[in-house]
Amino acid sequence: MNGLRLLGTGRALPKQALDNDAMTRFVDTSDEWIQTRTGIRQRYFCTEGETATTLAVEAARMALERAGIGKSEIGCLLVATSSGEYVMPSTACLVHSALGLDPDIPVMDVGAACAGFLYAVETARALMIAGHGRYALVVGTEQMSHLLDMADRNTCVLFGDGAGAAVFALDPDGEYTSVCGTRGDMAIRVGGPRRAQPMAMDGQSVFRFAVSTIPQCVEQLLLKAGRALEEVDWVVCHQANQRIIDASVRRLGVPAEKFYKNLDRYANTSAASIPIALDELCEQGRLKAGMRLIMVGFGGGLTWAGVMMRA
Ligand code: ACO
Repeated sequence: MNGLRLLGTGRALPKQALDNDAMTRFVDTSDEWIQTRTGIRQRYFCTEGETATTLAVEAARMALERAGIGKSEIGCLLVATSSGEYVMPSTACLVHSALGLDPDIPVMDVGAACAGFLYAVETARALMIAGHGRYALVVGTEQMSHLLDMADRNTCVLFGDGAGAAVFALDPDGEYTSVCGTRGDMAIRVGGPRRAQPMAMDGQSVFRFAVSTIPQCVEQLLLKAGRALEEVDWVVCHQANQRIIDASVRRLGVPAEKFYKNLDRYANTSAASIPIALDELCEQGRLKAGMRLIMVGFGGGLTWAGVMMRA
């Protein structure tokens, strides 16, 4: 079985943190509403000179250094994002250039909203199996502030900017189980024909979708791998809303401590939320080599994906 091993992680956040009180400058909202409905206390927004690219480069450098892998050894680079600076070149091309990676490797963006990082992990593994090196650099990066309508209280308080990165090794003796899916009926739309429309989201539909998708994804992964949830050390879900994670914990009937949560500090950073959470877990020494991990992403599209592997 060609599994994956996690060799190193990194993250990058913009300099500017905005707490919930700061959001009252833009819309009629309150710290109390935001905290009780979502669990969010603050988010980071990019300032002058900071973009999805600069954050991605910083997070990727950190991940490479911690993995102890030279840049010439990276066989493919995938960047999950919905908020890159340009249609062309891809954010992945900009990261490739800034890091000075080998020219003879596949490098591309993956657009699957908040499930993007896991779609990118799945793609990176497939590329490595197809012969594109033994190590992959996978980044999730977002400048969500770029896409928000700061006059729409239904969306602007929910999102934040940030990036996370991970270096994976293809491991012939490793574990890897995945599920991916799509229900192409949107519920969230950004851009429009001229990329000029800000984000609009049917929050309640996404909420209902998420609370059924997370437990379903976890159960599908366990069934596929012939494992029980007791054999899993960590579940790292996309960090959108504390109530979504709490509802998933109740449905699965597992100890809440198994589910990592950091959305209070970052809000929803879309494709970046899972690698940022991974990096925090690794940095705190709570995700150790050999531990079994489930990751679940869900988001606009609607898309979802789950991966189970060992760190
Ligand atoms: N401050 C104060 N009041 C607000 C705010 C705000 N920021 N936002 C909405 N309200 C109001 C609404 O106008 C509404 O008022 P009304 O009853 O007078 O009309 C009231 O609060 C209740 O609104 P609901 O939509 O019912 O609130 P709900 O409890 O459903 O929470 C939320 C809304 C937080 C958006 C929730 O539905 C949610 O988290 N949905 C999931 C979003 C998500 O997970 N997205 C992830 C994917 S994102 C991606 O892929 C890019």
